[in-house]
Amino acid sequence: MTSHEHTVPGELGDPAVQGAEVAEPGAVTIVVPTFNESANIRQLLHRITESVPARLPCEVVFVDDSTDDTPEVIREAAQDCPFPVAVLHREEPVGGLGGAVVEGLKAAASEWIVVMDGDCQHPPSLVPELVATGERANAALVVASRYIKGGSRAGLADSYRVAVSRGATWLTKALFPRRLRGISDPMSGFFAIRRSAVTAEVLKPLGYKILLELAVRSRPRQVAEVPFVFQDRFAGESKSSAQEGFRFLRHLAGLRTASPVARMVGFGLIGASGFVPNLAALWALTVLGLLPHAQMSSHGGTPLVLAEILANQFGVAWNFLLIEQLLFRDRRAHRRWWDRLGRFALLANADLVLRIPLIALLVDRFGMGALPATALALVLTFVLRFVGTEALVYLPRRRGNRTTARRAV
Ligand code: GDD
Ligand code: MN
Repeated sequence: MTSHEHTVPGELGDPAVQGAEVAEPGAVTIVVPTFNESANIRQLLHRITESVPARLPCEVVFVDDSTDDTPEVIREAAQDCPFPVAVLHREEPVGGLGGAVVEGLKAAASEWIVVMDGDCQHPPSLVPELVATGERANAALVVASRYIKGGSRAGLADSYRVAVSRGATWLTKALFPRRLRGISDPMSGFFAIRRSAVTAEVLKPLGYKILLELAVRSRPRQVAEVPFVFQDRFAGESKSSAQEGFRFLRHLAGLRTASPVARMVGFGLIGASGFVPNLAALWALTVLGLLPHAQMSSHGGTPLVLAEILANQFGVAWNFLLIEQLLFRDRRAHRRWWDRLGRFALLANADLVLRIPLIALLVDRFGMGALPATALALVLTFVLRFVGTEALVYLPRRRGNRTTARRAV
């Protein structure tokens, strides 16, 4: 193809190779994740053929998780293409869309890689411009953005999706103000990245937002943007779902709590959110009187204490679910779920043992209401709980300790 191919086998980061790259804008590998897109393949390859090879030598790598005949359709359509086309079919769709893109990034040999959807929502005519902009600006990442002048999201299905997309973009930018500086559209699935900027070993792709993953974990040094109009899908339907929405929240949480300090803040926020089910249950038990006599004062002792214990289980369950899903997702493997739940619940209720006399004191001696007293006591015992949870529930066990020995008995 071009002299650029000679630079391909070079080591990443080799200054000689990089010098050559700047002098000679090289070929581009277009990575396309596909999941049951057989009706879009021909059209996509046709549009790429029309607008890319004349301006930029290219190859296309499909990373496919389809359960339909998409791979066969690709192989057949490839025969009419003036550039190489490869299909990487995965038996297990690990990481979903993002996992597929990372496989494509690893397989790419060109200096530049462009990632785009397989449903023609991303105009291939922009591929040469993305790469040219990266060369001109000496950028490592070029984002095709719907949110700068000249761009738009015409193809987003309806006002609901527009609102969700806008909310997600705002939340994401708020969570990563520094890492996403200069990126107006971190949700975009259309971008160009230099192969030398891809640090595949640190990536933990999870679902749709692979650009976000790359921007936060690979930290490309220089970023540029090009406006684009998000088109209508050519055929078929979006593969996104409510489940994908939850996966996105987990992805955000995983990215945001990568450091221990951030994890403690996350633990605190989850703990604080646990006030809601805890206090709601307490309210139901006392004010609504779901528990007979619980609305009476704590003088007899038992009714209020019982209400507190029961209400606490709602907070415990809520916190456990969120912590498992959002905070310690990667650190669950070394204990079974019931072991983790048991330990977590034990810790949470152990602090009840501390908390109940405290609450009783606040109520009886200082005349506080049951709700404010409970809230105050929950805050006080939070730190203990965090330290205990990290150490006793989610820290990998040491080898050959007593637990193992006891198991053998
Ligand atoms: N290999 C693989 N595995 N491909 C997948 C998977 C998967 O699990 N899920 C989806 N894809 C492919 C689709 O076949 C399509 O080619 C591309 O990824 C995008 O999927 P769509 O289902 O069409 O996504 P969308 O249009 O709702 O969302 C797109 O636009 C958003 C911006 O609004 C994506 O580009 C998102 O990343 C982007 O945020
Ligand atoms: Mn789409």
